[in-house]
Amino acid sequence: MSVLDDIKAQAAEALAKIPHLDSSSELEQLRLAILGKKGSLTAVLRGMGALSSDVRATVGKAANDLRAELEAAINDRAQKLAQAELDARVSAEVLDITLPGRRPIVGSQHLISRIIEEISDIFRGIGYQVVSGNEVETDYYNFTALNTPPDHPSRSLQDTFYVLDRSGDRAEVQGESDVVLRTQTSGVQVHVMELTRPPIYIIAPGRVYRRDAPDPSHLPQFTQIEGLVVDKNITFGDLKGTLDYFCKQIFGPERKTRFRPHFFPFTEPSAEVDVSCVCGGTGCRFCKNTGWLEILGCGMVDPNVFGFVDIDPEEYSGFAFGLGAERIAALKYGVADLRMLLEGDMRFLRQF
Ligand code: DAH
Repeated sequence: MSVLDDIKAQAAEALAKIPHLDSSSELEQLRLAILGKKGSLTAVLRGMGALSSDVRATVGKAANDLRAELEAAINDRAQKLAQAELDARVSAEVLDITLPGRRPIVGSQHLISRIIEEISDIFRGIGYQVVSGNEVETDYYNFTALNTPPDHPSRSLQDTFYVLDRSGDRAEVQGESDVVLRTQTSGVQVHVMELTRPPIYIIAPGRVYRRDAPDPSHLPQFTQIEGLVVDKNITFGDLKGTLDYFCKQIFGPERKTRFRPHFFPFTEPSAEVDVSCVCGGTGCRFCKNTGWLEILGCGMVDPNVFGFVDIDPEEYSGFAFGLGAERIAALKYGVADLRMLLEGDMRFLRQF
């Protein structure tokens, strides 16, 4: 076979293949095999020197023509493949702007934190300071200095979780601990009166612990907000006015309050405060059809308590109150069961 026939056959074979190559890399391989430095057509052109001059002219022209033809065919196919590959990529990587976006999860304040904030804001607005106390308290602050000596019967109602002192530093309490998870925030009153002199206008929110089984209206751990006012000429009228104002602020101006005599060791006289129910007494599971809901305890600071902190009851008088934050939240936001506040069910919590 003559050289010319050979290159024609090679070219024809390549031209037939080109339209069927499906990727740029296969096409490139073919180009290199024929037209590359070591390609078959390149080899033929290199070997031209060995041909006689008359044959060289014919073969050279034919080879150059074929080379041009092959290059054109390869370029043409390369363009088509590049376009097809681009199309495939575009449709594979397409950005579907009709998909709904992914919403970032935005947290919300827990209802207990929220009610603490709401109540604190109301009292800040009338000049109170918000202070905090310790959740672990000694028997002295939780009971004794609140006029509740060790043999006092009201202790047993609140007996709680005693924390064992294993340090051995305090020989007098070894074994029989006098450290408790506080049962009430009232101990903050004592700390504040030890550290500051009147006038005192404070509230103290915080967790308290009781040996209670949880039920819809009780939690073994809940939040109290303690209030204390000590100043000259403070009367029961100030107490009533302040708490009535508070109830109207938190529940709405149409609410009424009612003070019922009660006993607390650290206040005298003492009262429990009820707020009128939204149902107005017409029948509802919150107020059990009485029309009233108990929300807090309060009273005038007992002179014996002043005795523990060295404040002269002849010069100063004061009032104190303690309310349960979860109950206030439940009443305000219609929570049927206090346990829901601690269960962490997002469907419930997200509502607030
Ligand atoms: N500490 C009381 C309790 O847990 C609530 C209370 C009643 C607080 C009367 C007071 C008060 O400050 O004056 O039941």
